Amino acid sequence: MRLTWLGHSAVHIDAAGKSILIDPFFTGNPKYPAGWEDRLSKLDAIVVTHGHEDHLGDTVRLAKKYGATLVAQWEICMTCAAEGVEKVQPMNTGGCISHEGVRFCMVPAWHSSSVMREGKAQTMGDPAGFVITLDGISVYHAGDTALFSDMALIQRLHKPKVGFLPVGDRFTMGPEAAAIACNEFLALELVVPIHWGTFDLLHGDPHEFARKVTRGRVHIATPGEPFTV
Ligand code: NI
Ligand code: MN
Repeated sequence: MRLTWLGHSAVHIDAAGKSILIDPFFTGNPKYPAGWEDRLSKLDAIVVTHGHEDHLGDTVRLAKKYGATLVAQWEICMTCAAEGVEKVQPMNTGGCISHEGVRFCMVPAWHSSSVMREGKAQTMGDPAGFVITLDGISVYHAGDTALFSDMALIQRLHKPKVGFLPVGDRFTMGPEAAAIACNEFLALELVVPIHWGTFDLLHGDPHEFARKVTRGRVHIATPGEPFTV
């Protein structure tokens, strides 16, 4: 499995012949590796954790360009379908689906979820994290979330080996809380801090997170540089 962090919460998974993007915030993301999309020859699915623009990002444009299936909360799928996305797999918290050989499980996240339309925040249902399983490896993308002890249930049910956890603070867990998630509730072999350093507002330091994690290996990824698991 080849994983690429694309800055902020955007992640690309390439495994078992499948190409999947999570939270594809490209336009307006200062940490997005310019030109990366030019090398993307196919895209099977786009997973969106919640409606905020720094996560929904380029979803509608990319889904149309590649004919990708959108996997997300019901409200997000219906909104994007109304904007021309043809293939959607709506879900809700606690559910799993298997779609074309990939298993998607929607798990809780403590956050909010809305999109701005005509100057108004429109609610997009509950925010989520996802566990995505393919090629025998489960990857947990926590979305934007606070720390919660039920992450232990996510580990028990879905057995993720790799995790992408927000550490930027202010809108999500900071380094200390994210380290507690790893040390006490999850059992990840590899954890990648995300949602840090994109904007000045996000002051959480991934190196502080790395120092505090005692269970699992921390990989502070560089946007656009793939790593394998
Ligand atoms: Ni958010
Ligand atoms: Mn966010």
